[in-house]
Order: sequence, then structure tokens, then C-alpha cells
Amino acid sequence: MTRVLVLNGPNLGRLGVREPEVYGSATLADLAAAVDGWSRELGLEAETRQTDDESEIVGWLHEAVDSRAHVVLNPAAFTHYSYALRDAAAQVTTSGLLLVEVHLSNPAAREEFRHTSVVAAVSTGTVAGFGLDSYRLALGAVAGRLAHNA
Ligand code: DQA
Repeated sequence: MTRVLVLNGPNLGRLGVREPEVYGSATLADLAAAVDGWSRELGLEAETRQTDDESEIVGWLHEAVDSRAHVVLNPAAFTHYSYALRDAAAQVTTSGLLLVEVHLSNPAAREEFRHTSVVAAVSTGTVAGFGLDSYRLALGAVAGRLAHNA
């Protein structure tokens, strides 16, 4: 079965209590359960992870390349400045795997510093602004692209 790593960066472990007016009331566990259900429906095998640690998420991107897993990535604040994450994300897409950047909120409609994504240019595509549904749309995009290419 096609594997997808659903990787979440810093502070996303605080979903549910962190600025619910921006990020909603669902917790990371709710997100993982929703991802599980959506991916099953789409014929994907997804695994949701979260870390506050840049080196850990870089390592997970290396793992995606080595184990041939596609990636749905919410880099959180790393989106805006982490060249290490960008370089790791580039290894995913240049190895022929899909990487969809996702955001719960729409960073383009928020503070100026959030308007820059250093990851976007090395991603297959981006989904932002739909809350938890951003992840459903991203998984659907992965399944759709793979079906199209098959
Ligand atoms: C976020 C947007 C980022 O700007 C922010 O730093 C996050 C979450 C989102 O999902 O909307 O932590 O990636």
C-alpha cells in the first residue's frame, strides 16, 4: 500500500488549546484520527507524527526518501525560515515522491512574516486555510496524482 508520512512541526502538539480561534478546537489526536480515516478511504496508509525539534523532522524527511513514502508536511513556524527543512523537503520531491505543504490557517492572510514559505518552492503543491480539511485535501491530492500517473 502507498505510504504517506503526515509530519507536523513545532507547537502543533498544542492543537486544541493553542489559539483555537486561529487553529480550531481539534487536538493533534483528533487530527491523527481524521487522517487515518481519510487515508483509508483513499487507499493510502498514513502515519501522523509531530515534533518541536527541527533535526527530528529533517530526519523524518530523510526517512521518507529512504523508505519511498510520500509526505504531507505542516512545517508550522519552520515554514518561514528553516533552510534545513527546505533542503530536506527538496530531497523528497527530487527523488520523485510527492510532498504537499499544508497549513490549518491561511498564512498569506496573517502577519507579514508568515507570507514567506521557504518550503513552497520545493513542494509539489500547497493547501492552506481549510483547518483540518487542509489535510484531507492534501491526501486527496496525493491519491489523485498517483492515480493519474498509474
Ligand atoms: C501553521 C501556520 C504557521 O505560520 C504557524 O507558525 C503554525 C501553524 C498553520 O498550520 O496554519 O504553527 O503552519
